[in-house]
Amino acid sequence: MATAKSTKLGVIGAGGVGSATAYASMLRGVADEIVIYDIAAELAEAEGLDIAHGSMFASEAKVSGGGDIEILRDCDLVIVTAGARQKPGQPRLELVGANVKIFEAMLPQVMEVAPNAILMIVTNPCDVLAVVAQKITGLPTERCFASGTVLDSSRLRWLIANKAGVSIKNVHANVIGEHGDSEFPVWSAANIGMVPLDEWTSEDGERVFTDEVKDELATQAMRAAYKIIEGKGSTNYAIGISGARIAEAILKGQDAVLNVATQIRGKYGIEGEAAVSLPSVVNREGVVRVLDVPMSDEEIERLRKSAGEIQMTLESAGY
Ligand code: LAC
Repeated sequence: MATAKSTKLGVIGAGGVGSATAYASMLRGVADEIVIYDIAAELAEAEGLDIAHGSMFASEAKVSGGGDIEILRDCDLVIVTAGARQKPGQPRLELVGANVKIFEAMLPQVMEVAPNAILMIVTNPCDVLAVVAQKITGLPTERCFASGTVLDSSRLRWLIANKAGVSIKNVHANVIGEHGDSEFPVWSAANIGMVPLDEWTSEDGERVFTDEVKDELATQAMRAAYKIIEGKGSTNYAIGISGARIAEAILKGQDAVLNVATQIRGKYGIEGEAAVSLPSVVNREGVVRVLDVPMSDEEIERLRKSAGEIQMTLESAGY
């Protein structure tokens, strides 16, 4: 009997985000082999071992870590989490300078050992760095993208679910644009079990999602990372499982619709090379299609503004 080709996932960076991504990927059974690469070799090896030792209770993915780039050889997908991280109160866009330098030094080595890999950027500002990475590597744009607002959309759905008292799985709402301060929810398409959010009422017939409530939820979703960074220094678990979810869609060829950030080339009148998060179809080839989401004029204007922020940061970094 023919067996499916085994899959190999590489995670660059053994910090909080990289190790949470590898751990969530092991739990979800995303790949047959998971490797963690970090120049801090002992840390990468230790995280690899710690995750591997739990495989008896989850998927049987082979997990290891190390500081030799060879560990990434022939990966099908590489998730980049390495780099400087936000300090309390610092916007993601301010990290660009430091992280561009790291990418310029690191990515050519990665492509040498894993020339056929798809590259997913989680390091912030992820949407800006997805374009930087694509230019450094020369990969086709659909094979080099960012985790974008997949996590932000999950945060928003969690907030809506709590407010409405329904399962998060039945909330349909998306945050698009920059993974950062200019992101916003597409409220015009948000619904709970087919009931438009604007028409959702409490049991006594009161409208729940007023403009005020929606603004508050949008701000909370956008500020979530700032709040977590204040409390614990960085975020890692939710971004880890978001990365694992995207990895699963890719490595299992699921044609899943996820809010990843890819270069959108002229859509919604956005010119230039900005990678912007929009609902997109993701499979074994990468991000194969960005959906044309019906939006209000105001939402399109906000999307253009958000793309403008990403574009400006990209240009300030010399790309
Ligand atoms: C966050 C980081 C990953 O939003 O940007 O948690």
